[in-house]
Formats: sequence, structure tokens, C-alpha cells
Amino acid sequence: MITKTDRLFTLSTKRTSYLFAITETGHLEHLYYGRRLNNPYVSLDAFAEKRSLPVGGAVAYDSDHPTLFLTNLATEYSTTGKGEYREAMVEVEYGRGMKTLDFIYQSARILSGKPRMFGGLPQSYGTKEQCSTLEIMLKDRVLPIRLALTYTVFAESDVITRRATLYNDTNQTIRINNIASLQLDLTGEWNLTTFDGSWARERYMHTRPLRPGIHVNDSKGGVSSADHNPCIFLSNDRNESIGVNLIYSGDHRELVEVSPYGKTRVLTGINPATFSWYLSAQDRFQSPEAILTFSASGMDGASRNFHHFVNNHITRGAWKFRERPVLVNSWEAAYFKFTEDKLLSLARESAELGVELFVLDDGWFGLRNDDTSSLGDWSVNTKKLPGGLAGFSREIHRLGMMFGLWVEPEMVSIESQLYKKHPDWVIAIPDRQPSVGRNQYILDLTRQDVRDHLLKTLTDLFHLGDVNYVKWDMNRTFTDLYSSNGEIRHHGEFLHRYVLGLYELLEKLTQTFPKILFEGCASGGNRFDLGMLCYVSQMWTSDNTDALSRMYIQEGTSCGYPLSVMGSHVSTSPNHQTLRRSDLESRFNVAAFGLLGYELDITALNRQQKEAIRSQISFYKNHRSLLQYGTFIRVKLANSTSNQVVWAVANSDRSELLVLFAQKLAEANPPSDILRIEDVDTQAIYEVFPRQQKIDLKMFGDLINRVSPVPITEGGIAQETISKTISLDSEVEHYRASGEQIAYGGIKLNAQFGGLGYDSMTRVMADFGSRIYLFKRVDSKR
Ligand code: GLA
Repeated sequence: MITKTDRLFTLSTKRTSYLFAITETGHLEHLYYGRRLNNPYVSLDAFAEKRSLPVGGAVAYDSDHPTLFLTNLATEYSTTGKGEYREAMVEVEYGRGMKTLDFIYQSARILSGKPRMFGGLPQSYGTKEQCSTLEIMLKDRVLPIRLALTYTVFAESDVITRRATLYNDTNQTIRINNIASLQLDLTGEWNLTTFDGSWARERYMHTRPLRPGIHVNDSKGGVSSADHNPCIFLSNDRNESIGVNLIYSGDHRELVEVSPYGKTRVLTGINPATFSWYLSAQDRFQSPEAILTFSASGMDGASRNFHHFVNNHITRGAWKFRERPVLVNSWEAAYFKFTEDKLLSLARESAELGVELFVLDDGWFGLRNDDTSSLGDWSVNTKKLPGGLAGFSREIHRLGMMFGLWVEPEMVSIESQLYKKHPDWVIAIPDRQPSVGRNQYILDLTRQDVRDHLLKTLTDLFHLGDVNYVKWDMNRTFTDLYSSNGEIRHHGEFLHRYVLGLYELLEKLTQTFPKILFEGCASGGNRFDLGMLCYVSQMWTSDNTDALSRMYIQEGTSCGYPLSVMGSHVSTSPNHQTLRRSDLESRFNVAAFGLLGYELDITALNRQQKEAIRSQISFYKNHRSLLQYGTFIRVKLANSTSNQVVWAVANSDRSELLVLFAQKLAEANPPSDILRIEDVDTQAIYEVFPRQQKIDLKMFGDLINRVSPVPITEGGIAQETISKTISLDSEVEHYRASGEQIAYGGIKLNAQFGGLGYDSMTRVMADFGSRIYLFKRVDSKR
């Protein structure tokens, strides 16, 4: 709900309020963002900045307001030149390099629903019942330049989205150096959490206290990046948390500045370090949409709000709230080296175990036998797939599976027909040797002819292959920015125009193929953001599928994004990225908290392992809606000093929960493990028991000789043969306990294997071992 009473604007969601007011000078003073104020009486004076005394050395806004120092006012927007010395939300250059602007309140409109944004940017959506919008128009005191601030309130998600639009009503071109989507000025002390990393270690959670000065969280390589995701959180010691994210896939910047007066300013938007825009006379420019949430239940609460928002107001089309298929992906199963027979047996055996979607990853086209060639030449390699793409896809469909295809459309290999034919289509500066990433260049998507070519090629390809799923990859970042596109007047625009070009292409393709399930990917999770999620329904989280690494990666990712968008696969052991060994069941347990896939050569597994996979898939399917769309709770963080990691998903009435209990390293003679979950229904009685797992006898190594009648050596034939045919069932453990017991005390679990003795109750975990516990409400004492 949005109201305007006198000078005060109030934006209310289910559990939050956001307040600001028009000052006597016509600026917008930010007053409050926090728990919902339910009392209709609000004292504006109580929240307003007191300005009765001058401050030595400070510059007053004007002589009529000698105590108004913009640099110490919490505001809804800021520009430069009138005594605001913090980082400004908007910086515009006009005339001979002047930058002073002074935006003053003009008018406001309140609308039900959400007006469409212009300029080709993706955006959140909602019905008139779900959201309402406030549009504020401001105008510079002197020049005909206007700034519109748009707020859309999504009551149920506790999310407010924001964007800014600049109107150049002058008759000269002006230059935008910066236009953030959101400015939020806060009081009090805050910790900042960011999600940082690189390839194969994306979105690790980092938290630090904020101190006076500036912290920048940004990307400069042309993509939202694995270096620093655009999602950030500010949390305080009252367990309040504010989350911010941006619906954008290019360079972003989140700047957090603690001023000398202890105010904390948060800005998010396109990164001004790699952006500028020449705005012609009578033209307008709109920023991407930023999203904002507040929760009095800490970061967990704030990320739950984001999950609700992404599932309801970002994900769209046929796959919204639809259960996602279990897939098998050919990449780590075969890399570039495969034949049709090899892939078909992988598909056949996977289908037999319950897999629903076969994904043909890299290596199926042109002359691509390694990563040195053929991107751009999107026609099938008939040496590998003699039946062609149509034939191969038919075989997959015949197995009752969906058919998925990997493409990397934004790229061209130096060794390719396409590059020979259109060398001018790549991003490169004439007379300068362009830098390369994975032997490839980026196609200039700012050019209409390039986009038209890709649209046609991909449309034909997806029809030909009767494709049900597309993995859209992007494996290098930008350098040598230059375009022969005559529309580009200045290369400060280039990266933004590229992103807009990409969005246009994705929009057209997703419209043409509304039933296809699109999964985004960029060397794993190098472009994991809300902009992409407006087109693709899911994202490849990381190339790293090691169970331990994934606990950090999925946990960090889960702060901003729901499990329903996070691709997570079971791969082989030792893991291809870390060489770490972990057992098949634990790889599954972690991958199950996301969109399950298998990315290993299933045909090479033994019968025991295949049976384990069959029961994993059947378990996953039985609980899929909970694992993909349930409420996710980070009970014990991987990102803490604890040796244990505990995650849970719960359904809406808490009658069913699945809980992951994992450990990093095994300890000898360990203390009892305690399963304490506060998010249960304390009034209920639950049955609690672990998913049955298989324990590979190899885990016991030479110890097996204590019970074996014949001597068995590690790695020997006897061990191999036994492990192929026999495995142990995991422990028998079952409780009936009250919600109060589980929430307040916790269940002491069976003893772990600790070096002395083993029986059917013993929990054999080892390093990186885990279990999934099922909690089922059996009786309610309401
Ligand atoms: C990227 C992706 C992988 C795989 C390869 C294929 O690295 O992240 O999942 O598709 O490309 O080349």
C-alpha cells in the first residue's frame, strides 16, 4: 500500500514500512525503513533530521536555509554541486563540463499495478492486486532536466523495487556519468554481507562490519560476475537485515558509504566505472530495476522474502512454479569425446534410473573436439552424431526423455566459418590485437544484423532438434570494447547496449519457444543474476560440483536466490575441480537442495551405485516440490567455524521438513551430534528418520578384514568385487518427538563410527559425509 498524507509518503508491505517526506526546500528526506508501523499516528518531526545549529566548515544549501547541509541529510536521491559530498546517486555533465544539479519535488502519482519499463530492460511483474507503484517527478531548479523515482511495492514479498529515469528536456545533449537505480540512506551500525569468488568458487559469503569510508562491490568485465554478485545484505545486531539486488546482467556497482556523521548510504546500479551515456535533447534514460527488502528475522528472513519475490515476480512463463526435471548432462560424462552410441547408452541407462532430461552439452557442432574451434558454426558434427541433431533428438525422445541442447550463442571461435565470413562482427578495436578467452571472441550484440543472424540460427536449430531445454552458456568476459555499429556515439554506452542486445535476443527466443526450459550458464555461475532470470527459469550455479565446495556455493547463492533456480549436479569422485573424494550419497544429499542433475558417466558405475542413484532419484521426485519450492532455512552455515552444516526445507504449514546434516571432517570418538531445528511447529509431534543410504564397503578399507573370512587388500580385486555387489544400509534410526523437543532441545543422534565397533545403529559418515532427515508431523495438539 502507498499513501501520501500532506508531505509524507508511506510505502507499506505486509511486515515493513518505508517513509520519506518532502522538505521545505522540496528535497525528499528519507525517514524510516524497517518493521511495519501499524499505528496510524506518525510524528514526522520525530523522524526528521534536526537542523537547528550550524556546523563549522559546512556548506549550507542556501542562505535562506543556513543549517541545511545536504551531506548530512538522509535522502531518497542525490546529485552533486550543492554541498552533498557523499557518493551521489545521479551525476550528469552538461554545458562545458558542469555537474551541479538540484532536483526539486514536482509531483507524485500512485498507481495500482506496475507500469512497463521502457528501453528494453527486463523487469519484475505483478498484478494490480499484488503491487502498486509510486512515481515521483523531480525537476532541476534551473535546467529543464527531470528525474523520476519509481517505487513498486510488492506487499506479500515485503519487497520494494526502485528505478530512476532521467529526462533531458533541454535542447542539448547531456552526458550521464552515473545513474544508480536505488539510494538508501540508513542510520545505525551495520554489517555488510557480499557474495564473492571466481570460477568454480562462486558466491562465497563474506561479512564485515562497516566503518567510515566506502566499500564497493562491483563487476567490470561486462557481466554481473562470479567476482561479486549484485546481491548484498546489511544486517545489524537487532537481527534486522536489509537485502538489495539488481535486475541486471552487466557491470553493476553496489557502493556502501559510511559518512562522517555515521549515516550509511547504499547505492546500486549500473557500474559508472564502465558506463556513460550521451542523452540527446528530448530523450530519456531509465536505470535497471533494483529490489529492496527488510526483515526483522535477519538475513534468513530477508532471503526468504527474495525467494518469494523471485518465484512470484521474476520467474515467468511455462516453468513458473513447475517442478523441474531431473537431468543428465554429457559434459563431465564425456567432455568433447563422444559417439552417438556412447551418448545413447548414457541416455538409456539414465532413463532407466529415472532421469527425465538428457542434455547434450558442448562438442556436438562444427569441428569441435576441444575448445579451440567452431563456436558460431551451429550445425551438427555428423561424424559424432551421424543421425544429425533431429535423429539424435528423436532417439532421446523415444526413450521418453526431454531433449536438451547446449549453445554458446554470444561467442565465435577464432577457428570458425562464422569468423572467416564476418570478422567485423566481433568485439575488437581496429588495428589492435584483441585479447582472447578460451580461444574465442564475443559477437557484437549491439548490432542488429548480428542479433538477427543469431535469432534465425537458433530458431532453426531449436526447431530442427525439437529441443525441450536449452543451456545458454557464455564463457569469457569483455575486452577491447569497440563497435562498428554506427548507432554507438560513444563507447561508454557499449557494455550497456550489449546487455540490451542480449535481452532483446532472449526476449524474442523465449517468446518464440515458450515451452522450452532455458538454463543460464556462464563458465558456471559468472552471470547469475535477476536480469537473466527474467528470461531463463534456472541457472547453472557453478562448474564445481564437489560436495563440500557446493555447500559454500549453494549456501551463498541461496541468500539471494531460491532453490528453484539453482542447478546442482552429482558428479564423479574424485571431483574434477578439487580432486576431493566424497561418497555418492553425500554428493546427492547436497545436490538435492537445488535442481537435481547427474553429470558423470553413469554407464561406468557398478550395480550398487546405479541402485543408489535409482533410489536417490525416486526420493527426489517424491519430495521435489518441497526441495525446489519449500521454505529454505540455513540452520548452521558452512561459512562458519562449525564442522557441521545444517540446511532445511519446510512446507508452508511445517508438517513436513527435509533436513541436511553434513559434516566437513570426521573426528575420532566424536561427541554426540544434535539435530536442533527451531523452524518446526512447536505444537506438533513429528516422526524423524534419515533417508536410507547405501554405504560402500570400500569406505572401511582394510578394516573389513576384521569380519571377512578371506583377506582383502585395499584396491585389490576382492575389494572391488565385493563393493560392486554388496553395500551396507545406513543406520536404523527413528524418533517420535514433539516440536518443542526438536526446537528447544534437539535430538541426540546415534553415535557416529568412531574407530571402535560397528552395528546397525552406527552412523558411518567419514569426511564430507551427510544425511537427509525427514520430519513428518503425525499429530497436532492444537
Ligand atoms: C562451461 C560450462 C560447463 C560446460 C562447458 C562446456 O564451462 O560452465 O558446464 O557447459 O562450458 O564447454
